[in-house]
Amino acid sequence: MKVAVLGAAGGIGQALALLLKTQLPAGSALSLYDISPVTPGVAVDLSHISTAVKVEGFSGEDATPALKGANIVLISAGVARKPGMDRADLFNVNAGIVRNLIDQVAQTAPDTLIGIITNPVNTTVAIAANVLKKHGVYDKNRLFGVTTLDIIRANTFVAELKGKQPEEIEVPVIGGHSGVTILPLLSQVAGVSFSDDEVASLTKRIQNAGTEVVEAKAGGGSATLSMGQAAARFGLSLVHAMQGEANVVECAYVEGDGEHARFFSQPLLLGKNGVAERRPVGTLSAFEQQALDGMLETLRKDIVQGEAFVKG
Ligand code: NAD
Ligand code: LMR
Repeated sequence: MKVAVLGAAGGIGQALALLLKTQLPAGSALSLYDISPVTPGVAVDLSHISTAVKVEGFSGEDATPALKGANIVLISAGVARKPGMDRADLFNVNAGIVRNLIDQVAQTAPDTLIGIITNPVNTTVAIAANVLKKHGVYDKNRLFGVTTLDIIRANTFVAELKGKQPEEIEVPVIGGHSGVTILPLLSQVAGVSFSDDEVASLTKRIQNAGTEVVEAKAGGGSATLSMGQAAARFGLSLVHAMQGEANVVECAYVEGDGEHARFFSQPLLLGKNGVAERRPVGTLSAFEQQALDGMLETLRKDIVQGEAFVKG
């Protein structure tokens, strides 16, 4: 199993690479790429950790040495928010970065599973899909927007509120990855119930959690460590499913049947070739249904912006 991390010298990339070095199955390879010249050094640093995971690092304009033979590519290359910015404000810089990297993925590792972390995820996934389409290698079961951070945040906040262990809680989060498009399905959390006020305030906190970190870091970037953990969880779920483990389910932002929007985050059964089955979002409360209806215009607009950037 070979996992490539693009953007590997950054805040997320380094945290993610550390977690993968310590948690990938023995015999795996970890391949790091970033335009930053520090990347080969990050790989040397990680290589001294005593796990049977081989690490290589590449820098410069060419990502292809890192991509050769990759089964999974996780992309966090790009700029992060500062206070006062929306994720959409990152489009001008990050759209071109994602287009360029996916171009190289399409040419070098066309069968790989791809997880996009770079914001705005609602839009960068649409860009990636259309670049892959242009190369004739798009498979909607192999391209994911990584929304796992919303799930681990929701699990943490619910556990805090209800006096539970976070490991006991699993909140499905559907929609997209920004503001109102993030919709935690609190009505479906097993073993806990919420008042209307709790649902309203928890939903708002989960939707604004990225901004909470951006403001707390006061100009020093956005979530990196929690995102590293979230991306590692998602990447390892892909690895386990590819290795034949049964019942690996994660929510992620993928192209579905278009019922709500072309791309939509929903529970997915993962398998050897990526998405094995798109699971329904289930029964929604009146609050959740209203929130779902209310997000769609924003989500669809975000997607169209990506589609217009790269015509499919
Ligand atoms: P960072 O600035 O710490 O790291 C970004 C890295 O990308 C840097 O090392 C930089 O050199 C590299 N990079 C820039 N252009 C590149 C290119 N063309 N090719 C290769 N590497 C390139 O930022 P970060 O905190 O790691 O965040 C990265 C991205 O992830 C941001 O867009 C951020 O908004 C996003 N993010 C997404 C989520 C999510 O839930 N999906 C969560 C947190 C952050
Ligand atoms: C997050 O949710 O923390 C990320 O999308 C980064 C951000 O800009 O909020």
